[in-house]
Amino acid sequence: MPDQARTARDMKEREAAVAVPHAAPESAEFPQKIIAITSGKGGVGKSNIAVNLGVSLTRFGHRVLLVDADMGLANLDMLLGLTPKYNLYHVLSGKKRIEDVIISGPSGIKLLPTSSNGLLSPDMTNEKRAEIVRRIRGFSDIADTVFVDTGGGITDNILEFLLLADEVILVTTPEPTSIMDSYGIIRVLAREKENSRVRLLINMAEDQADAQHVSATMKMITKQFFNVTFDELGWIGYDTHVSKAVRQQQPFVLLYPSSRASRAVTRVAMKMANYEVDIVTEPGLAGLVRRMISFLK
Ligand SMILES: Nc1ncnc2c1ncn2[C@@H]1O[C@H](COP(=O)(O)OP(=O)(O)OP(=O)(O)O)[C@@H](O)[C@H]1O
Ligand SMILES: [Mg+2]
Repeated sequence: MPDQARTARDMKEREAAVAVPHAAPESAEFPQKIIAITSGKGGVGKSNIAVNLGVSLTRFGHRVLLVDADMGLANLDMLLGLTPKYNLYHVLSGKKRIEDVIISGPSGIKLLPTSSNGLLSPDMTNEKRAEIVRRIRGFSDIADTVFVDTGGGITDNILEFLLLADEVILVTTPEPTSIMDSYGIIRVLAREKENSRVRLLINMAEDQADAQHVSATMKMITKQFFNVTFDELGWIGYDTHVSKAVRQQQPFVLLYPSSRASRAVTRVAMKMANYEVDIVTEPGLAGLVRRMISFLK
């Protein structure tokens, strides 16, 4: 696309941001939920989903904290255009308190950054992970929704966060390798935890039919795990705006609000918000949700 046309299109997409409400309704109160975002295979879009779904949820009145739990490979700060001075390493080494390390990002989202130099990995024990989660649970005034962005695969570090979380968002792409690795995650969860709640989020799908195919396959291969509550959170299509926004270190939902990926993430955020919001008794939120729905049409 010629540069001029691209700039015009980018501007149009920025303008569309005005149509989307940014301010969170003051009155919204939600019980705190810790949600681990994970995947079998790496590189499926977890960190981008944590950031953009988090920002999107702030528009529905949620107070969102992102915890970068990808020890040694921190990147949520970069995706948000932030340069944290302190991180989880300083907390674990006793130099800082968690509340001194949490920083604010766009749309009021909060970030608990991790160390990007690999310092945490050897020191991190299950007790320390549990301690971090326990302390985060005490911060219900800072966040009602906590996204813990784990790395991919099923290392001890990741598994412990999955077990400590209230629910798990499992990100899968349509590639068979990703589907098989997701199956592996569910199998481990079924073995390690009674009544896990796993919500499937399909990323980089070609179209709805592609996503439905993935979803049907996942349902079929996981139905043997009776103690796992498995539901579908939605799907996000492949969209080059994602990597364009990454290069500009800004969430795509803010930079390209009318892009395919942004509309999809907003739909997922709506679905998550609807689970917890009684839109009949919350007039402020009902109006907001109605405006969001008309924006998505
Ligand atoms: N819907 C999408 N459309 C196109 N590209 C995408 C989409 N989602 C993510 N990507 C791209 O995929 C790559 C990986 O994304 P991301 O870093 O969020 O994945 P991850 O699962 O967190 O990876 P890791 O396992 O290494 O932590 C990035 O280059 C990102 O731009
Ligand atoms: Mg990541």
